[in-house]
Amino acid sequence: MVPAMIGDDARPQLRETRFADLRSFGSIDSTNSQLLTLSQAGAPHGVVVVADHQVRGRGRMNRSWLAPAGTSLLVSVLLRIELSVDQLHLAGMVMGLAVADACQVAAGVTLWLKWPNDVTDGQRKLAGVLAEGDLDGPQVVGVVVGAGVNINWPATGEEPADSQGVGDSAVSLRQLVGHPVDRDQVLVEVLRSLERRCDDLVSPAGQRAQTLEYRRRCCTLGRLVRVELVGESFTGTAVDVTTEGHLLVDVGVCLRPVSAGDVVHVRPCSR
Ligand code: BTN
Repeated sequence: MVPAMIGDDARPQLRETRFADLRSFGSIDSTNSQLLTLSQAGAPHGVVVVADHQVRGRGRMNRSWLAPAGTSLLVSVLLRIELSVDQLHLAGMVMGLAVADACQVAAGVTLWLKWPNDVTDGQRKLAGVLAEGDLDGPQVVGVVVGAGVNINWPATGEEPADSQGVGDSAVSLRQLVGHPVDRDQVLVEVLRSLERRCDDLVSPAGQRAQTLEYRRRCCTLGRLVRVELVGESFTGTAVDVTTEGHLLVDVGVCLRPVSAGDVVHVRPCSR
């Protein structure tokens, strides 16, 4: 029997959705890179790329994203929605929310968002999100939003010799629920939630609604945080996320907006 590819079980369940064009790969450079290439070649709204393994998975701030083959959900979606470069964060926000929704439905776990888009159990990172624009000059002609979700990572101490565990700062769904979790089921639920949330992104009122929900589920807000920028770091209380997606940090004398950078929760979230 031919072993099932990631996405094979999900495809029939997505037939009636805008994400029916699901393209699976065993090994790929990066699902985001692949989809940016497809976008440049004119692929339509809703194409999904999913892979078992990435050779050059990419994370925020030009970092790499590593995951042992077969253990994660590595998925990217092409959205042809009207967003400016300054609004690309909205795509990342809805993807983060969709991943949290999916983990609730498929595995029964409640998760939070750590600014900007990490999905976390409050202390450890379960998923990361990367939203990128396919640009024609200043115009965004396509939005590629990808997520890497740690699903069935081996527990620390059980890793194969050529691999790595999730470490202390990351966690997998399997660790949280105590048994393996069906990656295709998580994929279906991510895309179902994303479809509903993307409908909102086409209007200012819908964008405000998604931003409000993000704020409710963002466990960075109200926390003492350390912001690490290139050549500088500072500490303060995270008080809000602006409509531009910037984190506002109260440093005593003013509110400092943070548009990019690493934010460390000085104390873990307790909600
Ligand atoms: C982060 O730095 O937290 C974002 C990580 C995003 C990783 C995902 S895995 C699927 C998609 N393809 C990529 O190359 N990156 C994103």
